[in-house]
Amino acid sequence: MAWKTLDEMDLSGKVVLVRVDINVPVENGVVTDATRIEKIVPTVRDILTAGGKPVLLAHFGRPKGKVVPEMSLRPLVPVLAEKLGAPVVFAEDCIGAPAKKAVAAMAPGEVVLLENTRFHAGEEKNAPELSAAMAALGEVYVNDAFSAAHRAHSSTEGVAHILPSAAGRLMEAELKALEAALGAPVRPVTAVVGGAKVSTKIELLSNLVAKVENLVIGGGWPTPSSWRRGSMSASRSPSARWPRLRARSWRRPPRRAAGSCCPRMWWWRANLPPGRRMRSWRRMPARWMR
Ligand code: 3PG
Repeated sequence: MAWKTLDEMDLSGKVVLVRVDINVPVENGVVTDATRIEKIVPTVRDILTAGGKPVLLAHFGRPKGKVVPEMSLRPLVPVLAEKLGAPVVFAEDCIGAPAKKAVAAMAPGEVVLLENTRFHAGEEKNAPELSAAMAALGEVYVNDAFSAAHRAHSSTEGVAHILPSAAGRLMEAELKALEAALGAPVRPVTAVVGGAKVSTKIELLSNLVAKVENLVIGGGWPTPSSWRRGSMSASRSPSARWPRLRARSWRRPPRRAAGSCCPRMWWWRANLPPGRRMRSWRRMPARWMR
């Protein structure tokens, strides 16, 4: 395989920058599902056992390059410490003086969590100066954020070009599973794809369809694809999901708008008289389906 694992790296006494995905659901400051935190435990523990000093790089939400206090990673510290079974020190920034100070003061067995990488506009742009500033904090880079690895950001991609790099345990397991399923699998292969963020999965599905015999989609996916096939139930229709569509004047169907697949179709569905249900989008004029 073209990537290294933790076992191939010399971590003893080294500061190890670990990109993790701990973008967990939080309600009123309480983590409601700690699965992603639990998944990084083997990586962090193995680094500690090998004598390394784990410094965690992570994003939280989508602050779009601004400091948004509600998207700070600080509230995750107690949960991280509990799951890792190690003291976790928080640094107010993922680069610069606060980060350097926290890393320099690390005691053996301690873990440092750096503030949300997306508080810097350079993160999502994969800005070389931000990657360099992050890389300056450590000696080895480990990527364990499989669920964020489809993004070429400074902390997921840029740093890997600067420091000796390896996959963490979670990344390793995911890559091995992918290799087993898509490398030379026993056919027929069925892929089951879920998730809420449809836009980020279009490329993935385009790639998968060429490699599998069956593709099952779930999560947020069925809705848009069903619109096209006319098989969606009334309760899941755009008008049910976005009631404001109902409020629009039914006399003037809107022209195609940016970012929507077929607003006229939605408008038609949203403005049907009570009791009437449209069974199939195929009855719509073909030009509306474009
Ligand atoms: C996720 O929650 O799906 C990952 O953390 C990636 O988050 P993003 O879609 O905001 O990049």
